[in-house]
Amino acid sequence: MVVSEVGPGGVAREAATTWPEELRGARLHFVSGKGGTGKSTVASALALALAAGGKRVLLVEVEGRAGIAPTFELEALPPTESKIATAHGDGEVYALPMDVEATFLDYLKTNYGMGLAARALKSIGAIEFATTLAPGLKDILITGKIMECTQRRGKDGRYAYDAVVVDAPPTGRIGKFLDVTRAMKEIAKAGPIAGQADRVVRLLHSPDTAIHLVTLLESLPLQETAEAMRELHELDLRVGAVVVNRTLPQLLDEGELAAATDGTVDGPGVRAALADAGLPLSDGDLAGLLTETIQFARTVQGQDEAREDLDTIDAAGRLELPLLTGGVDLGGVYDLAQVLAEAGVK
Ligand SMILES: Nc1ncnc2c1ncn2[C@@H]1O[C@H](COP(=O)(O)OP(=O)(O)OP(=O)(O)O)[C@@H](O)[C@H]1O
Ligand SMILES: [Mg+2]
Repeated sequence: MVVSEVGPGGVAREAATTWPEELRGARLHFVSGKGGTGKSTVASALALALAAGGKRVLLVEVEGRAGIAPTFELEALPPTESKIATAHGDGEVYALPMDVEATFLDYLKTNYGMGLAARALKSIGAIEFATTLAPGLKDILITGKIMECTQRRGKDGRYAYDAVVVDAPPTGRIGKFLDVTRAMKEIAKAGPIAGQADRVVRLLHSPDTAIHLVTLLESLPLQETAEAMRELHELDLRVGAVVVNRTLPQLLDEGELAAATDGTVDGPGVRAALADAGLPLSDGDLAGLLTETIQFARTVQGQDEAREDLDTIDAAGRLELPLLTGGVDLGGVYDLAQVLAEAGVK
């Protein structure tokens, strides 16, 4: 896989790709974004980057989307909090796939001592009934469990996890998912769940929490990112970094880029240079290469234009991650974590 160098025009890019100081204090990170933009990949890389140097990070998956296991080349995530990866410098990444039913049973057991009764409820499908009746209940149970993981302390008084990263619902659902206050209106006003919800609201609105949005330099993901930003601002939730995923390397300088975009590539020059390097090309291969170069240049130009739209988006920070040719294998996730570390994630 190829991690691109910052090329010509890279100065502005570099300035735009640092992890802002104000995010260094965050311990709870949600990673949202339009479907398929790379939420699971970015959440995994972020967990590795935050764990570097001997820290413990919990990576949480919600809604049974099963995106984390393939990223770490695992068949499935173990059902309970378990170590799934080692980060640079002895860091540890644990994973927890959030199972609403198990969380609900656990909740009934701890708050109402309803172990046996809860199992009976489960057998008659009461959980499905309860969550259908109050859709917000499911989100409150999940965010409540995430809070518990974030605030849990060991016997030595230290946090069980230095940071918690959530592979969160997509942008279309993120506002609702995190709007615990609204969800509470649907359900009981009193009792342990109300007390828990108040604490969740406090955590989500504190500097401990940051919500990152993954996007691509394409119009639909950018539009969804802008909409999610507005929604989160209205809910008074802090948007952390906008993570621009799958960016292309700047392999051409400005003049070459402009010419190639117009369809002008120095064919004979390319052929001569490759022949010098011991790679003689047939006419057909040369034509194919030139077409690919033109297409590449047009995509790069499209990304550059889209990047300008991003300048109007007001997030705490912006990071760019390169397109890894051939997709993201386990080594690729570590490479992306390295890019994040170099941008200042810690
Ligand atoms: N920087 C990258 N370079 C190349 N491929 C990438 C990159 N980031 C993600 N991908 C690939 O894109 C695909 C979608 O990524 P991922 O599963 O992380 O997205 P997602 O937003 O979690 O999707 P979903 O909405 O389905 O949960 C995967 O095949 C992943 O390997
Ligand atoms: Mg996913």
